[in-house]
Amino acid sequence: MEQTTRRVAVFGAGYIGLVTGACLAELGHTVAVRDILPERVELLQAGEVPIYEPGLGDMILRNKERLRFTLDAEDAVRGAEVAYVCVDTPPTASGDADLSRVWAVVDALKEASHLLALVVKSTVPVGTGRRIRAALDAAGLGHVGYASNPEFTAEGRAVSDFMNPDRIVIGTSDTATGDLIKGLHAGVDGPAVAMDIASAEMTKLAANAALATKITLANELATVCEATGADIEQVTAAIGMDHRIGQHFLKAGLGYGGSCFPKDSRALHALASNSGYSFQLLRTVIEVNGLQARRHLQRLKDELGGFEGRTVALLGMTFKAGTDDMREAPSTIIAARLLAEGAAVRCWDPMAQPGPGQPWDSTTRHASPLEAMAGADAAVIVTEWPELRDAPWAEVRAAMRTALLLDGRNLLDGAAMAQLGFTYMSVGRPTVRP
Ligand code: UDX
Repeated sequence: MEQTTRRVAVFGAGYIGLVTGACLAELGHTVAVRDILPERVELLQAGEVPIYEPGLGDMILRNKERLRFTLDAEDAVRGAEVAYVCVDTPPTASGDADLSRVWAVVDALKEASHLLALVVKSTVPVGTGRRIRAALDAAGLGHVGYASNPEFTAEGRAVSDFMNPDRIVIGTSDTATGDLIKGLHAGVDGPAVAMDIASAEMTKLAANAALATKITLANELATVCEATGADIEQVTAAIGMDHRIGQHFLKAGLGYGGSCFPKDSRALHALASNSGYSFQLLRTVIEVNGLQARRHLQRLKDELGGFEGRTVALLGMTFKAGTDDMREAPSTIIAARLLAEGAAVRCWDPMAQPGPGQPWDSTTRHASPLEAMAGADAAVIVTEWPELRDAPWAEVRAAMRTALLLDGRNLLDGAAMAQLGFTYMSVGRPTVRP
């Protein structure tokens, strides 16, 4: 395909906005990224990246001739041909998505009659695009195309996911806009899938619901494995070899977290509820996920004989490895539950930077897994950091008061840990004792 470079304004310099802006610049487009937070924009203008995302800093630096950051919406959109909306859509009290930031961008574009298209990447309820289309028409911007172009990138691999996606979903009602957005992606290695706007909006929510359900299936099967003596790792490895099931997203653990799955599953559930339909499968997924960390903590409590006056090491605070993101991380529930039960909590994480506030203010932070576990009565692996696989477990064994470990990520080999003297509990596998 012949490459036409475009001038693009990206609204929102969060994970999605920064990755989108940087990748579009990498593809040759000229990009202005606008955010409303002065400190964020200043940092970016100074060449620093406010989030941890592999490859993103280098990409921003490499494309600095074509990529700039601004606080000013008018400045961002001046001369732009395409405007991307990448702002966040947090849940409201009713469980609906808060679209105020999306609408603020649409309002800021009311004078931008030179635009060719407005593209929404933010995750929005089905029907939002239709309303935005109507608002554009009412503002005399009927000639500005509209597209829903949801994002499926995962944190920690967002740059490579953007450049090599499984698919690029482009939802629009006119082919010219579809072709324009497809052209913007020239150089991206992945098929474009054209559809209507509502279906594109639904595809984003449906993809996350499918993945959250798959993880939850593994977690539910793990519980049955625990009750029956089967080993979930062997079971998921074998069912995953069936191409109809696939191996991905079958890893049992302490429940999914992050900025997407919890929020989007609740948003899809709320969307269904608003039309009077109870999405029962999704409701169960949400409930099971909420129970997961609590249930395993209860197993640990039973094994230890109570948490009151005990010291517990919490290993990993981020919602998954390879990110500094702690949004909806199971670690938060675990830390709060341990404190509520009267335990002292000693934490380790190589990247997490929780702001001030509970539960973290009442915990202590340590420089290494060994240091966090020294003197502890029990330890919980919450995040699958490689440092934990490679921790000096023999030294840890000697340093802990009681060698009790709950491996919430099935990271370690139970037999080896028992040989070192640990009582080793994990998810969906038999507990192994020294
Ligand atoms: C996810 C989707 O993958 C992405 O397509 C979407 O755009 C945003 O949400 P992300 O939140 O970055 O991306 O993380 P992901 O790697 O998908 O993991 C989500 C959560 O599920 C994590 O807490 C992870 O630990 C957990 N998980 C994942 C499991 O418990 N088991 C698995 O098998 C996979």
